[in-house]
Amino acid sequence: MSEGAPLVHLSVLLQEAVSALAVKPGGVYVDATFGRGGHSREILAALGSAGRLVAMDRDPAAIAAGKTIVDKRFVLAHASFAHIGEVLDGLGVGQVEGVLLDLGMSSPQLDEAERGFSFRYDAPLDMRMDTSRGETAAEWLERAEQADIERVIKDYGEERFAHAIAEAVVALRGEHRISTTRQFAALVEKAVRTREPGKHPATRSFQALRIHINQELEELSLALPACAARLVQGGRLVVISFHSLEDRIVKRFLRGESQPARLPARLPVRASELSQPMLRLVGRAVRASAAEIKANPRARSAVMRVAEKA
Ligand SMILES: C[S@@+](CC[C@H](N)C(=O)[O-])C[C@H]1O[C@@H](n2cnc3c(N)ncnc32)[C@H](O)[C@@H]1O
Repeated sequence: MSEGAPLVHLSVLLQEAVSALAVKPGGVYVDATFGRGGHSREILAALGSAGRLVAMDRDPAAIAAGKTIVDKRFVLAHASFAHIGEVLDGLGVGQVEGVLLDLGMSSPQLDEAERGFSFRYDAPLDMRMDTSRGETAAEWLERAEQADIERVIKDYGEERFAHAIAEAVVALRGEHRISTTRQFAALVEKAVRTREPGKHPATRSFQALRIHINQELEELSLALPACAARLVQGGRLVVISFHSLEDRIVKRFLRGESQPARLPARLPVRASELSQPMLRLVGRAVRASAAEIKANPRARSAVMRVAEKA
């Protein structure tokens, strides 16, 4: 564990997200990204005795932290939100009144050196959110083709120097294994020839590796329709994202599912025969207030989008 790092998570858009869920006292809700339970606790406070909250997280450390909530209305499952359907089926839950996805990382994940997410600490280059399965970032860098490393760093890190970084990885791993955060950060620092003010040159590459290792964009693309499918009519889907790649997927999905099917002009179809959109957008994108960003700089990049089942 990193020295002095506070292993707490300050929930982002806490009141805004719970109020967007429009919690009904007897409803069933899903917090699909439990983290340290900030949003879950707030949802439980708004629920009555007949209400129910199903929480999920893919990180075993989040599941362990959730053991502190002892409440018969609450259940916590170790699973990816892409599997929300299976989790709800397993619990005998059909439709739900609301689902919250608060994407990205919790502060404890970033602050626990040994998780290998941060270039601020020297640790094994792991980066798996679910430490119970899958390949670590070091293992992937050891075996991946140079072109794949370049594509991941370019697409998920939006990094101009992806080619040079991928070349440096392949050259260095010919000499020795790249097994620690410091080794990878130092290699990137050398390959990136420009500097962005206030940003470590390895920031983009760390983000890229993390997104790839956890298949974050694929999981999100699977989760959105799976969550929407489980909502009752009027049920709410609330999604908080933290970077433009995630937000683009959320925005496209919500827009696509809230518009009527487009048909070629002059097709002889009545309005009543058109398939109706599955969702209705609720309000505009919400960002954190200046006061919240001051108290919690992580909130700066947060964007919350809300939709309702039509
Ligand atoms: C920003 S934190 C959530 C914080 C939480 N709302 C709170 O207030 O404490 C994001 C959490 O989502 C989890 N997560 C990320 N991708 C996931 C996925 N595909 N399935 C389930 N959980 C995921 C991470 O492990 C992390 O704990």
